Amino acid sequence: MREVALSLFVFFLVKCVNSIFSPPTREHFKSCLSTNHSNSIFENPNILTKHTSDSQTYTSFSESLSKNSSFLSLNFTSLKPILIAKPKSEPEIKKLILCSKKLGLQVRTLSGGHDYEGLSYLSQSPFIIIDLVNLRSIKINLTEETAWIKSGATLGELYYKIAKTSKIHGFPGGVCPSVGVGGLFSGGGYGIIMRKHGLASDNVVDARLIDAKGKIHDRKSMGEDLFWALRGGGAASFGVVLSWKVKLVRVPEKVTCFTSQHAMGPNRSKLVHRWQYIGPHLDDDLFIRVFINNNQQQGSQKRVRTTFQGMFLGGIEKLIPLMNEKFPELGLRSQDCKEMSWIEANLFFIGKFGQPLEIMLDRDQRYENLYFKAKSDYVQKPLQENVFEEIFKRFLEEDAPSMSFDPLGGKINEVLEEESPYPHREGNLYSVQYTVRWKVNEMEEMKKHVRWIRLLYDYMTPYVSGSPRGAYLNYRDLDLGMNKGIKMSFEDAKKWGEMYFKGNFKRLGLVKGKIDPNNFFKSEQSIPPLF
Ligand SMILES: Cc1cc2nc3c(=O)[nH]c(=O)nc-3n(C[C@H](O)[C@H](O)[C@H](O)COP(=O)(O)OP(=O)(O)OC[C@H]3O[C@@H](n4cnc5c(N)ncnc54)[C@H](O)[C@@H]3O)c2cc1C
Ligand SMILES: *[C@@H]1O[C@H](CO)[C@@H](O)[C@H](O)[C@H]1NC(C)=O
Ligand SMILES: *[C@@H]1O[C@H](CO)[C@@H](O)[C@H](O)[C@H]1NC(C)=O
Ligand SMILES: *[C@@H]1O[C@H](CO)[C@@H](O)[C@H](O)[C@H]1NC(C)=O
Ligand SMILES: *[C@@H]1O[C@H](CO)[C@@H](O)[C@H](O)[C@H]1NC(C)=O
Ligand SMILES: *[C@@H]1O[C@H](CO)[C@@H](O)[C@H](O)[C@H]1NC(C)=O
Repeated sequence: MREVALSLFVFFLVKCVNSIFSPPTREHFKSCLSTNHSNSIFENPNILTKHTSDSQTYTSFSESLSKNSSFLSLNFTSLKPILIAKPKSEPEIKKLILCSKKLGLQVRTLSGGHDYEGLSYLSQSPFIIIDLVNLRSIKINLTEETAWIKSGATLGELYYKIAKTSKIHGFPGGVCPSVGVGGLFSGGGYGIIMRKHGLASDNVVDARLIDAKGKIHDRKSMGEDLFWALRGGGAASFGVVLSWKVKLVRVPEKVTCFTSQHAMGPNRSKLVHRWQYIGPHLDDDLFIRVFINNNQQQGSQKRVRTTFQGMFLGGIEKLIPLMNEKFPELGLRSQDCKEMSWIEANLFFIGKFGQPLEIMLDRDQRYENLYFKAKSDYVQKPLQENVFEEIFKRFLEEDAPSMSFDPLGGKINEVLEEESPYPHREGNLYSVQYTVRWKVNEMEEMKKHVRWIRLLYDYMTPYVSGSPRGAYLNYRDLDLGMNKGIKMSFEDAKKWGEMYFKGNFKRLGLVKGKIDPNNFFKSEQSIPPLF
């Protein structure tokens, strides 16, 4: 009898202690949402999905999105979101924000889910995910040559809609159609017509944002400082962007694309070396980027190749003489080129030329090899040939490495460094993306490949931009540093902040201090408030 009483007591004690110390549950969240009856949030079957408390389901959810690179720097294995909400209306987002704040939860906003470190769906503190998948309509106004795009839309959905509406309009966003506009627009956005039309963020003309108080702003009511910050500073630090208004650009009905592959090896770095003097200075209508990869066929030897991929805003008859004049070393012939529409060029760049345009609508396209780590750099002075020789040697030692070089210049340089948070403009020749991939999800395997990419990055230090070394926010890299715990110091964050934003970091901190002084919207790489 005594024993029973005692165990009951222990039981109550445990229960009580739990209720004080354990993080809020989904039930707490539900009851918070239901206290205000103004909205049919509960009747909406989509708002509370079944993923949440079931860790198995969440793991496969996050695996389907993530390449698990997050585990390089963070240990997220211990935390699942309290819930994954898929709101269908703006008032629902407001409720989700207010209840999260009330219950002390963090919010992660998910658009296309392509964040390289998974910050849109992973967190070290108790959190919910606001998945914008149900808010993705696109409205085009051809008279004004603009579009309002809800943040849950992907680039592919945008490009498809534009192409179905007009043959002579396009938009300068990224290449991969499954990337979300929410992340890409707010971090810059590189694509195949950026030398002609600038970054995606340079073409944003209005935005609607919901802040930590649940208040909705447009460009006019948010003020120019906050509007400035959203165009390259990463929106996740400031609130949830509901929609973006962009300026569409004119494209010719006929563009030309080509691919030109070359072996790389001892004494064979001349072409890529030469490209550095040409690619960033070509006519704005011509974009030629470079890929280096190590293309290993099964059983055969590793072969490192340099691939030049080009897009010209015009026909073959103009491109060939231009190439003969500017880059004769490449030896481009008209039979290497294909004429097509702008939308088809986007398929060409993902290796799907000739396939139905509806491929653009596939939101679930991901890397086939699930696991990867990426890093970025900016080159300001052409690299010497021996640097390419060293890269070539290192590529032979790794399974699936790649480097891509995106030429800058043109319209990108017409914007001043402080005119938008994205600062890597005049003075930069091209951006570099390093990636390494692996297939087996094991700690040892991961460590090996990550070590390789970090060593390559170290090797490159003297040859790329410095003090601070530049990095591209959309190629997020937690190796550069991160906010630790609740105490976020602006001084600590400066290290990575100035790599992404240079002198603009301070202004971003001040904007943050104004719109979100209590730092509700925070993550491992969010901007700490400055006052
Ligand atoms: C396969 C692949 C191809 C890529 N190609 C390109 C390319 O061609 N050019 C290029 O520039 N980049 C490219 N990227 C990088 C890409 O721009 C970034 O990963 C971008 O952040 C992804 O946006 P997202 O909406 O898909 O990602 P998400 O993971 O959903 O979001 C990324 C970040 O933005 C925040 N966020 C998302 N939506 C909102 C919102 N509505 N309000 C506030 N914060 C929000 C998230 O919380 C997170 O911090 C590529 C990435 C991948 C994986
Ligand atoms: C990560 O967190 C889990 C759960 O808390 C723990 O078991 C594991 O040891 C941690 N791993 C590392 C590498 O810290
Ligand atoms: C509930 O409604 C009241 C009154 O309108 C408001 O002040 C409060 O912020 C709302 N709370 C939530 C969680 O929506
Ligand atoms: C398109 O923009 C024009 C010019 O601003 C405006 O007059 C018109 O009403 C818009 N059309 C739609 C359908 O919104
Ligand atoms: C590369 O060039 C160097 C110097 O010109 C020469 O010694 C070497 O044999 C060449 N190697 C190959 C593989 O052609
Ligand atoms: C990520 O990798 C770690 C280490 O191999 C593993 O323990 C974990 O289950 C993986 N998680 C996901 C979400 O892929």
